[in-house]
Amino acid sequence: MIRATKAKVLITLLVFFVGMQLTAQQSSSRSISLFTKGWKFFLGDDSAAKNEDYIDSSWRNLNLPHDWSIELPFDSTSPTGTGGGALRGGVGWYRKSFGIPLASKGKKIFVDFDGVYCNSEVFINGHSLGVRPNGYISFRYELTPYLKYGTEKNIIAVRVDNSSQPNSRWYSGSGIYRNVWLVTVNNVFVDHWGTYVTTPQVSSQLAAVVVYTRINNSTETDTTITLKTTLFDASGQPVLLSTPDDVSIVANGTKVKGKKFVFGFPHLWSVDEPYLYKAVTQILSKGKVVDEYSTNFGIRYFKFDVDKGFSLNGKPMKIFGVCDHHDLGCLGTAVNTRALERQLEILRGMGINGIRTSHNPPAPELLDLADKMGFIVMDEAFDMWKRPKTKYDYHLYWDEWHKKDLEDQVLRDRNHPSVFVWSIGNEISEQWAGKDGKDTSGRSIARELASIIHAFDTTRPITSALDHPYPGNEIYLSGALDLVGFNYHQSDYKTFPEKFPGKKFIATETISALQTRGHYDMPSDSIRRWPIEWDKPFDKGNPDTTCSAYDNVSAPWGSTHEETLKELLKYDFASGMFIWTGFDYIGEPTPYPWPARSSYFGIVDLAGFPKDVYYLYQSLCTDKKVLHIFPHWNWREGDSIDVWAYYNHADQVELFLNGESLGVKKKEGDDLHVMWRVKYVPGTIKAVSTKDGKEVLTKLIKTTGKSAKIVLHADRNTIKADGSDLSFVTVSIVDSAGTLVPDANNLIQFSVNSFGSIAGTDNGSETSMESFKAKEHKAFNGLCLAVIQSKGKPGIIRLTAKSEGLPTTAINITVK
Ligand code: GAL
Repeated sequence: MIRATKAKVLITLLVFFVGMQLTAQQSSSRSISLFTKGWKFFLGDDSAAKNEDYIDSSWRNLNLPHDWSIELPFDSTSPTGTGGGALRGGVGWYRKSFGIPLASKGKKIFVDFDGVYCNSEVFINGHSLGVRPNGYISFRYELTPYLKYGTEKNIIAVRVDNSSQPNSRWYSGSGIYRNVWLVTVNNVFVDHWGTYVTTPQVSSQLAAVVVYTRINNSTETDTTITLKTTLFDASGQPVLLSTPDDVSIVANGTKVKGKKFVFGFPHLWSVDEPYLYKAVTQILSKGKVVDEYSTNFGIRYFKFDVDKGFSLNGKPMKIFGVCDHHDLGCLGTAVNTRALERQLEILRGMGINGIRTSHNPPAPELLDLADKMGFIVMDEAFDMWKRPKTKYDYHLYWDEWHKKDLEDQVLRDRNHPSVFVWSIGNEISEQWAGKDGKDTSGRSIARELASIIHAFDTTRPITSALDHPYPGNEIYLSGALDLVGFNYHQSDYKTFPEKFPGKKFIATETISALQTRGHYDMPSDSIRRWPIEWDKPFDKGNPDTTCSAYDNVSAPWGSTHEETLKELLKYDFASGMFIWTGFDYIGEPTPYPWPARSSYFGIVDLAGFPKDVYYLYQSLCTDKKVLHIFPHWNWREGDSIDVWAYYNHADQVELFLNGESLGVKKKEGDDLHVMWRVKYVPGTIKAVSTKDGKEVLTKLIKTTGKSAKIVLHADRNTIKADGSDLSFVTVSIVDSAGTLVPDANNLIQFSVNSFGSIAGTDNGSETSMESFKAKEHKAFNGLCLAVIQSKGKPGIIRLTAKSEGLPTTAINITVK
């Protein structure tokens, strides 16, 4: 068996090469289609809505994914609290009428939900298919026994109950907020999440790939089928075809069959080169393909080492990851692949290479993107176990559901090369032994969860994010953790090897710094720990509920970015960290109460605009040449202003004010920025970074005049005519010289022609009460965002932005 392209060595294999004659046979054996168009929605409860003959003509027409909470007004009396984004939950119903062709009679038909928040019950033609409390889990129901075929219509109805509040510490969204699929298969088929691809042996010379397939025979007779699996490389060329196996499966039974492939010179998956292979599994009966199933996978090896930390494919690497919740800013939680991709692109732009799906299973699209774009994912299961964090949260369902939910998460996600670590929980209260010190359930539950994972995947380490990171921690004492995960406590990193001898370290959550984009409090070198006490109302902050965007504010349990970075960079054993958070998210507006309604933790604001600290990471974690200076240069004459610079690829930076040098600064020791204290006069601040006396970069910041123009910039000028693709248009308010006006808050009114729609608007302020769905939005510190969505038809979207006193501006976005 020789790999087609790089055949350098001949290796004895367990399979026979059949060469290029094989291509993935296209067959009509399995059909998978999005089931998201043409739904009806009603916000409210009506138990009769499950019935087929219910009249829903007055309901709203919409396409999924859909989050109804994001459409509601911010409300200080919402039972979700500001923690939940001050947006209400409630009960909602969805219905869809659909036909199934006669040709599908005799096949098996399933509906797959990627996630419904929360407590869903699904009905088909009046029959309940089941309930699912967990709002983040993917699940499948079989429709076949209740379906009508041909010209007769079927009614699927879904009741979603997010009325018991609070049930989340962050904004959860409400509704069928992820995709839904209709899957039709023959009676012998690859089961749901029915493949498991492992790579037990990997080097640059050789890879062993094992593909397990679970075959479902749902006929009334025992049967024997032929199973064939082909591996394809990223260009679609076959790499290896297995010898066909005859597999017998009893009536109404399943069987798992494994097959090993070995080939030379595999193309390894890495963060820089996320190379994907595909396994195509075929089931043949009497020579005919009756099912075909594809699984993407990657070939990589990694290690968490007690002394040396993390390495990928033998190369040492620190994980610079972020924690993120699942909302997509003004789009709410309604999943959108382009919006996720944009988030990942922005994070990659500052050198982030890891994502923690805090604190729940993510949308499958996120993992697909992480596979393709090269991120190290920590796939987290729970934010609580049996003990609650909020009154109506998942603890209520723990006993009945945790096993099934965790099994389904692992089954769904275990083939993703981007998934490196399972986290069984975040800051779980069972870490502590309880008031009497005798409750050791943290140990037993942790062991049970690890054994649930191990039943389906033994190839990844298990961690739990511990905010009580001491050897007396009950979850640690379970012995179930492969990686000891610290939340915060950066000053305890240094004693880790001594306190946890022989253990591997990961900083599962770090920092929790607080920043409002474009707002600066001086002096910049004094650090605020806000709120003063986490459980007491906080009234010592800024009256306008801002936090300074110098890296000088953090939650008391956290640190500034630099404080933790300096610790992390010191220790090789520290495999990496996941920063709280990459993006601001809706809810948890620490440190402020209402009217704050979204978080200040992000390195990037809710609208996707980077805060200054973004460039600290860019200077540290990318090869890009960086010189970032801030703040803006619109102050009162005589003010004492701290000018910071993040830079790399240079020895030093010289600062000039109106042409006059304010001196040269260089980072010494473990410094991560340089600073000048400057007496303000209007004009131009210029920074020049140099290496060996040669200029590397020059940056200017100018005092601006008043708002004079609107500038529109689309992140993509051409989008797909698929009704879901997005263009994110940044609106900048500039003065007559074209410089961003740093405090501009002009109200912008948007309109689009019939080729597109406005999917959301935002400005990144944590306290704006404007609706994310409004067609007008104020700028915040000079910037605003309009998210433009394609409709199903090609053409040119014309987006127009108007604002009183400023010339109207427009931009074209091509829809293809
Ligand atoms: C952590 C927690 C996160 C978030 C964060 C805010 O302790 O794990 O979910 O609440 O604090 O700083």
